[in-house]
Amino acid sequence: MKIGTPLSPSATRIMLLGSGELGKEVIIALQRLGVETIAVDRYQNAPGQQVAHHAHVINMADPLALRRLIEQEKPHIIVPEIEAIATDALAQVEADGIAEVIPTARATQLTMNREGIRKLAAEALNLPTSRYAFAETLNELRMAIDGGVGYPCIVKPVISSSGKGQSTINEPEEIEKAWDDAMSGGRIKGGRVIVEEMIEFDFEITLLTLRARSRSGEIETHFCAPIGHRQINGDYVESWQPQAMSPAALQRAQEIAAAVTGNLGGRGLFGVELFIKGDQVWFSEVSPRPHDTGMVTMSSQHQNEFELHARAILGLPVSVGMSVTAAASAVIYGAMNEGAIAFEGVDAALQDPQCELRLFGKPEAFTQRRMGVALAYGDSASDARYRANRAAKQVTPVKG
Ligand SMILES: Nc1ncnc2c1ncn2[C@@H]1O[C@H](COP(=O)(O)OP(=O)(O)OP(=O)(O)O)[C@@H](O)[C@H]1O
Ligand SMILES: [Mg+2]
Repeated sequence: MKIGTPLSPSATRIMLLGSGELGKEVIIALQRLGVETIAVDRYQNAPGQQVAHHAHVINMADPLALRRLIEQEKPHIIVPEIEAIATDALAQVEADGIAEVIPTARATQLTMNREGIRKLAAEALNLPTSRYAFAETLNELRMAIDGGVGYPCIVKPVISSSGKGQSTINEPEEIEKAWDDAMSGGRIKGGRVIVEEMIEFDFEITLLTLRARSRSGEIETHFCAPIGHRQINGDYVESWQPQAMSPAALQRAQEIAAAVTGNLGGRGLFGVELFIKGDQVWFSEVSPRPHDTGMVTMSSQHQNEFELHARAILGLPVSVGMSVTAAASAVIYGAMNEGAIAFEGVDAALQDPQCELRLFGKPEAFTQRRMGVALAYGDSASDARYRANRAAKQVTPVKG
């Protein structure tokens, strides 16, 4: 294991596919270890592009454009940050030995489509999930719900994220609207949906699970403390660590996370999403990369999720321990549809010495776009949540 000098022939080059707020932090962590970074996104001046050595704007879902850029930049390692990538092109790059894909090209293929990861978890690995079915027409959706999934249930496009195109159905009259929303909200127009039984959980967690090389060279699995979070319309609004849970539920959660990430393989950090009710645990989905709810670790852990990902990618030692009793994150939204906005109240938010902010620097704001995050630590998860939410509210987007 050696790391070269950036911008020289000896450089260790890593390409991020997707350079949003999560990619930006991975890039910063890699740069601190002397890696040469290449930030790719679909638009100019994406957060990660503002801190990388090189920036490129391409359509990452276009296999030819993606292959061309990889051949031109010759990264040693490729780190996908988003799901909407031509994953088959990545599989070819991996098979041709051109670059290593984190964690594996197969993991990016399976997780970009809800069908791939759900069948793996429920059918191949026999892990507990909600009841589910897939449908390609409105009629198939009706039959799936009446034939077993039942009410209430949730419909989601199989290719989508952040709650887009997702809706809850409580009665038969709502099926048609849910179908229409899924058809217009998915990333690929038309296509398949998954319909899932609604789990009446006590709470949901992200279990950050790390596959990293041990001293003896084997891959070891590590678990961060569970992260609790609250979602509105399928998008996270706040998270905290640790989420209190029973030892039995925690053990079950770790077993499930180990099984899924063990199958996906490779090195790196995964965000395993789980539903918890008492001692019962259901697998929901997994990101083979740092997770948005895991931004709280920038305030709570000695090595945050981005640093852990960077270390695991490079084959370096890792440590997942917390550095404070509890911490929380709260999202700052754009609140308007405008380019080049500004933020007021940053000084007020930072009056609390236990608070920090991350403003992502996105060139364009949308009402519901995540533009920043407030972080805080405290004596308890509720104290940290109070502080983070107060700070997030004090930061006010205004026209630039
Ligand atoms: N079967 C279910 N039962 C209960 N709640 C659910 C179920 N499926 C989804 N949810 C709720 O909706 C949220 C978003 O769902 P999911 O994670 O599947 O979608 P997503 O679009 O991938 O979101 P993200 O990309 O932000 O993680 C979950 O975190 C959970 O709060
Ligand atoms: Mg999710």
